[in-house]
Amino acid sequence: MTRTIIIAGATGSVGRALIKLARGRGYRTVALGRNRARLETCGADEVRVTDFTPGSLMGAIQAGDIVFSALGASCSPSPFMGWKTYRMVDVPLNTALLNVATKAGAARFMYVSLAFGRELRRHAFADAHETVVDRVVASGLPYTILRPTGIFSTFRRLWGFAKLGVFPVPGKPDVKSNPIHEEDIAAAALDSIDQPSTELDLGGPEVFTRREMAQVMLRTAGRPRGIALWLPGWFHLLCANLLWLASPRAGQMLKFYLVISVFDNVVPTAGKQRLEDYYQQKARQSPGIIGGMHRSAW
Ligand SMILES: NC(=O)c1ccc[n+]([C@@H]2O[C@H](COP(=O)([O-])OP(=O)(O)OC[C@H]3O[C@@H](n4cnc5c(N)ncnc54)[C@H](OP(=O)(O)O)[C@@H]3O)[C@@H](O)[C@H]2O)c1
Repeated sequence: MTRTIIIAGATGSVGRALIKLARGRGYRTVALGRNRARLETCGADEVRVTDFTPGSLMGAIQAGDIVFSALGASCSPSPFMGWKTYRMVDVPLNTALLNVATKAGAARFMYVSLAFGRELRRHAFADAHETVVDRVVASGLPYTILRPTGIFSTFRRLWGFAKLGVFPVPGKPDVKSNPIHEEDIAAAALDSIDQPSTELDLGGPEVFTRREMAQVMLRTAGRPRGIALWLPGWFHLLCANLLWLASPRAGQMLKFYLVISVFDNVVPTAGKQRLEDYYQQKARQSPGIIGGMHRSAW
């Protein structure tokens, strides 16, 4: 019998990757989201427009369905990508989805949180995700919590700096991380479907310093002689606080970017794909100087 996966956050990078891989593995996919035009570009078998209130989710999930959520306020530093804080978006929307899934008797709930989420809980971005994690674990449904390091697609938000040849590096330029391709996160989620409840730390196959990541972005943007520009912590926090005035969410994100840039953010390897290959390919559909900060189909 064909199994159904309901995808929330379907129009984001991980949601789109999940739909592509799930269809390839024979699942029926239903994309949930707030904008029909964007939903129709995700490649799902069906789409359903919802604002993730309990009423609008009624009947969206049937007994035995698998629910996957990559739903969360944007990680973009652009103030034009929403002002509501991570807690105001991620927690109520995912809680409503989880409650409907629980009542319907879903087979599993899969949720994308972040590596080191529990340890970083004093910071708003991590706390919003971990509040959802606590609720998923308490729901009694079988679950998968996915804990990626940096997702490849997220660096596109700084693509404009790479194009200009000056890529900002906050924190400590020599601390390391192993970012991961969104498809590798999606593959790990699908592989976990018939396993006992689990939390998966997910990192890519290559470990980079923050400076090396900047150099990959500069090279793939056609600026091999560009500069990885170190930003002092006080300057970064000043920018974050100024940005907070326009968008508290964007201010929270910028602060979090500094937090993860001062310690080695390396977790076990789950992915196979390389950052440089990804951006070499994406460079061909370059979104321009500021376009990368906003929505795009990758
Ligand atoms: N960036 C990173 O490196 C990183 C690392 C670890 C974890 N994470 C987390 O992983 C998750 C998935 O990441 P991603 O890169 O796939 O995110 P993304 O591309 O920004 O996608 C976010 C999704 O959530 C939806 N959404 C946001 N606000 C909404 C709202 N108010 N109402 C309804 N839908 C809303 C978006 O829909 P629209 O298209 O309608 O906006 C989109 O489908 C996020 O929770 C993110 O915080 C990110």
